[in-house]
Amino acid sequence: MKIAVASDHAGYDYRQMLKEYLLSLGHEVEDFGCPDKSSCDYPTFGRRAARAVQSGECERGVLVCGTGFGISLSANRLEGIRCVNATDALTVRLSRLHNNSNMISLGARVIGEEEAKFLLDTFLQTPFEGGRHARRIALIDDKTI
Ligand code: RB5
Repeated sequence: MKIAVASDHAGYDYRQMLKEYLLSLGHEVEDFGCPDKSSCDYPTFGRRAARAVQSGECERGVLVCGTGFGISLSANRLEGIRCVNATDALTVRLSRLHNNSNMISLGARVIGEEEAKFLLDTFLQTPFEGGRHARRIALIDDKTI
């Protein structure tokens, strides 16, 4: 799978760890920054990765900031992006089964590294259920409601 990754400065080291993990699983990784650990703005980098998922250039995306929340907000502003802020495994699993999440965000200051890998596995391995959930997802981007 081709996976877009991005983070701000708070997630820089964590992003390197996740990239290595994804590569070890055989995935292709496209890195959208940030370029180093100097202070930067999470929407800039989160949005770049989200655009790659939105366009279909990448199949999924992985984002990191301090909490995972800010960078997920910037991704979720884009139509077609469904980024789950990975607080726990059940949320991540249900976000795949019911919401067909196509991006995951992780909080480098909140989630331990081993747990992050488990959450990432859950995100990558859980299928979308479809059916009534597909109808609901279509409604998210429906401008008439
Ligand atoms: C950066 O200090 C921090 O605010 C950012 O990484 C993130 O947690 C925002 O949501």
